[in-house]
Amino acid sequence: MTSLPITLTINGHRHKLEVDPRVTLLDLLRERLDLTGTKKGCDRGQCGACTVLVDGKRINSCLALAVSQDGANVLTIEGVAHGEELHPVQAAFIAHDGFQCGFCTPGQIMSTLGLIAEGQAGDDPERIREGLSGNICRCAAYGGIVEAIVEAQEKLATADRRTAA
Ligand code: FES
Ligand code: FES
Repeated sequence: MTSLPITLTINGHRHKLEVDPRVTLLDLLRERLDLTGTKKGCDRGQCGACTVLVDGKRINSCLALAVSQDGANVLTIEGVAHGEELHPVQAAFIAHDGFQCGFCTPGQIMSTLGLIAEGQAGDDPERIREGLSGNICRCAAYGGIVEAIVEAQEKLATADRRTAA
């Protein structure tokens, strides 16, 4: 099948690519660009392991064809930390044992970033659980994940208040 030209900005880097129109964004990231932090769990939109942000919104990259994302800005787990400095959400996941095997963790973190950007999370554990219900953790580290999200949001809100002052 004929390849199609697309341009994607991934973690701040612009990529001009020729892609098979059948290739998903997930496979493009993992197989072609070596960005293997984004995980493939179910490959059918049911587990959330492949969550990335596209133009600031969380999507299941296993359900998105790469060609349909032409021109988009993609953030994967590899682009979340600032150098050696972890993002507050990443640091909070570690502090609260928000993972066990860690396979779902990149998707959980990307989904958390999306949830926070949507302004939906708040500090209500039930709302957080609902907001992340598309991200399955087979190890059931949910308790730590929710605690981590509550703490990370408090830290981010405090940092915002300091910046605004
Ligand atoms: S791998 Fe995409 S939702 Fe499971
Ligand atoms: S930490 Fe293992 S699947 Fe979530």
